[in-house]
Amino acid sequence: MMRVLGLETTCDETAAAIVSLNANGSGDILANEVMSQIAEHAAYGGVVPEIAARAHVDVLDRLIRRALDKAGMRLKDLDGIAAAAGPGLVGGVIVGLTTGKALALATRKPFMAVNHLEGHALTARLTDGIAFPYLLLLVSGGHTQLLAVKGVGDYVRLGTTLDDAIGEAFDKIAKMLGLPYPGGPMVEKAALNGNPERFALPRPMMGRPNADFSLSGLKTAVRIEAEKVAPLSQQDIADLCASFQAAIVDVIADRVRMALRSFTERLGRPNALVMAGGVAANGAIRRAISRLTNEVGLPLVVPTPELCTDNGAMIAWAGLERLRIGLMDDLTFAPRPRWPLDMTAERSLNGKA
Ligand code: KG4
Ligand code: ZN
Repeated sequence: MMRVLGLETTCDETAAAIVSLNANGSGDILANEVMSQIAEHAAYGGVVPEIAARAHVDVLDRLIRRALDKAGMRLKDLDGIAAAAGPGLVGGVIVGLTTGKALALATRKPFMAVNHLEGHALTARLTDGIAFPYLLLLVSGGHTQLLAVKGVGDYVRLGTTLDDAIGEAFDKIAKMLGLPYPGGPMVEKAALNGNPERFALPRPMMGRPNADFSLSGLKTAVRIEAEKVAPLSQQDIADLCASFQAAIVDVIADRVRMALRSFTERLGRPNALVMAGGVAANGAIRRAISRLTNEVGLPLVVPTPELCTDNGAMIAWAGLERLRIGLMDDLTFAPRPRWPLDMTAERSLNGKA
């Protein structure tokens, strides 16, 4: 049985996990330790890179110790060590990557430098043993992508955002309306009591033949509507949140439809639609995507919230998937603040991944 330790420090969660490979090809999570830094960053309304890097240094070794204890293992029992090497905040990436390399050097175990996005992309195989190829909707605070997942290390980007990530848009709207950080869950909660039809907001990119997103126009439209009705009552805030969320839901459903079409044209029918990233926790988005997959008869896989948001298990699993096909890395592997999964797509678009 293969067992890999995975380290995640690319953003504001510090995480260490141990995952083993099952006989049926999926994985077992033996330990999954996560420490969120939300409290450290809340006062600033967003992630502060310097604070994040220091916090990773403070807790990472303890989390590794705890993960080993929970799994009932010692370092020598591992078959490999994986660390997220990007994309993300470089100060944090250095902490996890250097720790992973040092452990690999000291134990003489294979080392895998994992792309954080590949961790998200392969989680559905850890949890549900989904076979390639499948369509991935990755929606978080830093990423908004529609990807064809064809194999380990083999991705085709079908769509991305030209400006803000979806989670980032939720967070900015929350900040604009005076709701606390992180804003996504707060906007969703406020929207429950709001009227989604009160404000006529744009649905940017809807109907376009590609599967790209653009959110800055929608954000500006919310700002303009908010300024028109200011000072804002609780009801105004709820209605703005509901109208914003309804627009996002419409855009995501339309973009996923386009991505499905282009997936099928290029690669045939996907085995599933997989959602990942913190925004996948949003109930309205999940319901819309679930309606869509029901309609076209496609299985929908949404990992549990702990495995949708940043975690160590996804890095350990991606490391395991690489180790088992002989894709190890050298200890000279450098951190990659930018690291698109689909290198060819990146050259043709200068937008954010
Ligand atoms: O994947 P994640 O934990 O961290 C990264 O960005 O990598 O995602 C966090 C993002 C934040 O922008 C947060 O506001 C958003 O996911 N989010 C949500 C919800 N829960 C978290 N957005 C909308 N609705 C939610 N329920
Ligand atoms: Zn992430």
